[in-house]
Amino acid sequence: MSTFVAPVIDVYLHPEDLQRALAQDALEGLSATPKVLPPKWFYDAQGSELFDKITRLPEYYPTEAERSILAEQADAIADLSDADTLVELGAGSADKTRVLLDSLRAHGSLERYVPFDVSESALISASKMIADSYPGLTVHGVVGDFDRHLDVIPSGGTRMIALLGGTIGNYQPVDRTRLLERISAQMHSHDTFLLGVDLVKDPARLVRAYDDESGVTAAFNKNVLAVLNRGLGASFDLDRFEHVARWDPVNEWIEMRLRSIEQQRVTVRDIGLTVDFAENEEMRTEISAKFRRNGICTELATAGLELLAWLPDTADDYALVLSRKP
Ligand code: SAH
Ligand code: TRP
Repeated sequence: MSTFVAPVIDVYLHPEDLQRALAQDALEGLSATPKVLPPKWFYDAQGSELFDKITRLPEYYPTEAERSILAEQADAIADLSDADTLVELGAGSADKTRVLLDSLRAHGSLERYVPFDVSESALISASKMIADSYPGLTVHGVVGDFDRHLDVIPSGGTRMIALLGGTIGNYQPVDRTRLLERISAQMHSHDTFLLGVDLVKDPARLVRAYDDESGVTAAFNKNVLAVLNRGLGASFDLDRFEHVARWDPVNEWIEMRLRSIEQQRVTVRDIGLTVDFAENEEMRTEISAKFRRNGICTELATAGLELLAWLPDTADDYALVLSRKP
């Protein structure tokens, strides 16, 4: 009989470490022209909850699109990967992941699930939920930053590494190339990589997905300022910034910004920084790149990965791309 196995969680990001990294990013980003803030800071406990709300918004189609592809194709993905270990980078609430785990279990190969996320709160609750509903499954969570800790992913067996939710689109092209190369470098022969990408489409729909009616995305974007207030004693007044989401047709990405609605001065106490914002000055917080089949397949090939399957949803809004280390 299978029994419940308590999850093991390795923590590579400790509070002091996070604090130091946040201080460094804030110092660099807020002193730059134009000002920028790196996106991984969105996901503190509150940010992870707000993101979960985004995935349930009617305007935010990517989650349902990805879920529908998984519902159709997870069995085929399980067969092609033959994986005993599912490693999920940026697992978040690991909700859609269940579809994959079910197929891997039905395929008969599933032994281990490795969720990996910067957000400790999201990771712990997802690990518990999955361990509870999959008796006998080894759940080995990693709290880490995949820009720094990819090499600590548990090895052994045949692994499928998944990066879902369009998270790859949040990387600048150069950083994206590096991330794909580093993922590929971690993979052994016959390990597979399952990548979720949002596709180029009508800009009006794209903008709505990142600037919803009910203001959840605006709250998510502004939460990064609350993270600076809590983490570094900054004095951002969230009501004096406005959420901006714009389609950039040249780069084919949505760009998220925070616009200062008036001239203001903000202090970041713990790093002794004073920052001036002009009226209407915009600070970039996130990009979300949209892809075309040829482009992303070429990028995977450049990283040394061989295409196994291109799996779009019926509307061609979103695709899962399965590739393999030859
Ligand atoms: N996979 C989920 C969540 C996507 S949101 C879905 O499809 O809905 C992106 C997730 O990646 C968040 O949970 C965030 O905490 C995590 N993340 C973002 N940058 C990260 C990084 N550099 N290292 C580790 N996790 C990161
Ligand atoms: N990976 C998600 C995406 O690009 C992240 C995301 C959704 C996001 N909505 C956002 C990031 C709003 C910042 C702001 O779709």
